[in-house]
Amino acid sequence: MSHDNLFWRQTAQRLLVDSKRTDAVPALKTLTTKGGHGAIHALWTLSGMGALDTKTHTAALISPEPALRRNAIRALGADKVSAQMLYDSATLADKDLQVRLVAFTKLAALPESDANKKTASLLMKLPENAKDEWLRLALQATGAAEMNIVGYKRGPNLLPNASFEEVGGNKLPTNWSERTYSRRNPDLKHAIETRKEFVKSGKNSLRISADTRHDSSLFARVRLKAGRKYVMSAWVRTDNLQGTGNGALLSVHELQHAAKTKGVKKTSGWVKVETEFKNEQDREVTVNCLYGGWGQSSGTAWWDDVSLVEIEPIYKEKSKDAIKATAAAGKKIFDTHLVAGCIRCHKVDGKGGIVGPALDGIASRKDADYIKRSLVNPTAELAEGFDKLGASPMPPMNILLNDQELADVMAYLMTLKKKKK
Ligand code: HEC
Repeated sequence: MSHDNLFWRQTAQRLLVDSKRTDAVPALKTLTTKGGHGAIHALWTLSGMGALDTKTHTAALISPEPALRRNAIRALGADKVSAQMLYDSATLADKDLQVRLVAFTKLAALPESDANKKTASLLMKLPENAKDEWLRLALQATGAAEMNIVGYKRGPNLLPNASFEEVGGNKLPTNWSERTYSRRNPDLKHAIETRKEFVKSGKNSLRISADTRHDSSLFARVRLKAGRKYVMSAWVRTDNLQGTGNGALLSVHELQHAAKTKGVKKTSGWVKVETEFKNEQDREVTVNCLYGGWGQSSGTAWWDDVSLVEIEPIYKEKSKDAIKATAAAGKKIFDTHLVAGCIRCHKVDGKGGIVGPALDGIASRKDADYIKRSLVNPTAELAEGFDKLGASPMPPMNILLNDQELADVMAYLMTLKKKKK
């Protein structure tokens, strides 16, 4: 199972599962703790035989090897115990972003719940998650509300040479290229317009004209982000624009009907056309000054001052003053919180789990700063006796608790002083 060749590893795994070799279970459990390729196959073999126990699985979830952590997350089910194991593994804040992505994807695959949505929303507050395309999409799939958005602002114009002032050697605007969808008679013309009355701003506008009917465009390339909204607009003017198509408009070729402005037809002075759309995929697209459009047009059309901007969210600044912490609320979280439940891992007054150290007297042993750090960044500050673990199995609490809850828990921990004899 640790062979260099994947074929032998998979064959060994398959034979063990197919022949239900439960006598191999103890050896497989040991192999899971050894790391390397063998550990991953041992994990899946145990899983395939239905013999993956919580202890082995938990150890794999907090293994120092990212590949094993990733596979251990994938091997989780969608039941309550699995959800709890995911939360308790700290992989939702894994420093390896590939592991983190698998953890987020697992979170999204769990049955819908408010607790999971809240977790996803808290995770979305971290810029390193919100700014990464894939991490963001996985969190959105869990239902992360865009928390703390107080408004939106329009970003810079993404279209190049948007007023067609720069002209290339081919007499067409630089960064814009021709694309003709149907027909190509010699009377179809793409040109820079310089006559003042046909220019909206600057010295130039763009003109497309034809005597016979055509479906054609000049397009520019733009990179769009996934899950973001955009506004696209142009000033358009027409002269005797006839035919079966939409007329003269602006469109994103790749998004078809999901991203096109109204078309201008017949004879019209300058009008502004504008549309808002959501882009689902991170990719390069082409934006058309479109003539015809799902049909064909004849006549003349002009475009000027084209624009494509992202609608960027504005996040609320953190305010510190609103929080009033109480130890009673903190104790409640400590004892009962669905996903952060400290008592599962820590004993106080002889009650609780044994994964972490007992916390009796913590406030006498350590100062508030240390305690706060061990809550939000457990790995940076490992408790005595746990230093050899390398990484803390305790999830960073700022992803499971909001600022208020964290303050409450802190208030409670500060009451845990050494009892006077
Ligand atoms: C999944 C198990 C788990 C959960 C849940 C958990 N912890 Fe921990 N905690 C640990 C482990 C293991 C350690 C020791 C390693 C370390 O220092 O990070 C630890 C360390 C600590 C420490 C540092 C103790 C010391 O002596 O340095 C504090 C304080 C702490 N936890 C508080 C909490 C609080 C408060 C909660 C609930 C909000 C909580 N923990 C939830 C496992 C857990």
